[in-house]
Amino acid sequence: MSSEHEGRVALVTGGSLGIGSGAVRALARHGSAVAVHGHDLAQSEAMAAEVRSLGGRAIALAGPIEDPATSLAAVEATLEEFGRLDTLVTSAGIQRYGDAVSTSLETWDEVMGVNTRGVFLTAHAALPYIRQSPAGSVVMVASVQGTACQANVVAYVASKGALIAMARAMAIDEASYGVRVNTVSPGSVDTPMLRTSAAEWSDGTPEGIERTIANWGTAHALGRVASVDEIGEAIAFIGGPRASFITGDDVRVDGGLLARIAAALPEKP
Ligand SMILES: NC(=O)c1ccc[n+]([C@@H]2O[C@H](COP(=O)([O-])OP(=O)(O)OC[C@H]3O[C@@H](n4cnc5c(N)ncnc54)[C@H](O)[C@@H]3O)[C@@H](O)[C@H]2O)c1
Repeated sequence: MSSEHEGRVALVTGGSLGIGSGAVRALARHGSAVAVHGHDLAQSEAMAAEVRSLGGRAIALAGPIEDPATSLAAVEATLEEFGRLDTLVTSAGIQRYGDAVSTSLETWDEVMGVNTRGVFLTAHAALPYIRQSPAGSVVMVASVQGTACQANVVAYVASKGALIAMARAMAIDEASYGVRVNTVSPGSVDTPMLRTSAAEWSDGTPEGIERTIANWGTAHALGRVASVDEIGEAIAFIGGPRASFITGDDVRVDGGLLARIAAALPEKP
């Protein structure tokens, strides 16, 4: 166990489940106190209780992140409990399918609301305090789909591309305050979100879901999808003092998914 986050305080949106929960565990393991935010308070409580049971410090927060009152309340509660804020991790996100015709305006607004507006609102509320940290940082969970994508994910892809651009812009603005801003872009990760997608694109049986996830895994050079803890470790590193010269970057943690191109050499005659 390292202590690189000792004395630091992190707020993790989407920290109750999936990739965010991997980030919460990693940050706590490396010494950070953590405010765990999620859509559902009981899920945030369960994650915070897990951290406390391992000797860490954590509080549970909840609410719709697309609502400005939620992000403000989350930052205020973090400061009230821990007195400072050093690291912001934004992992709250949703996935909806559709092309530019089949995606309704309502779905577009829903996806952009959580995945992009929610991140802006949280950063907007948190940055005045993160600027006071001696080594403040923001890590936004984007996606490989902000760079290259499948069919039928137009709103999701737009929201993730926006995050990668937003992190670059914030990195420039925050540099004079010593605050680093980056995105981490995972490939496929075994989370409730991925399992919901696998159920939608299979026959929905437990075997069908496992088969679909294993099949998605084969698209990655490493031949499998990631665990939430593998992404959590990367987030804790990028968000921590050891990554002191990394800012404005999009860090892919994708098991080699985007390393491969579709064009293959022909069979030798
Ligand atoms: N799972 C993957 O394969 C994968 C790959 C690349 C990127 N991502 C991104 O990683 C992030 C986390 O995804 P995941 O797979 O862990 O998802 P998940 O569904 O497993 O967890 C999502 C988290 O976000 C929270 N959340 C959702 N909507 C919210 C709202 N309106 N307000 C507040 N909180 C809300 C949930 O409470 C939960 O904590 C997302 O931004 C997603 O786009 C996931």
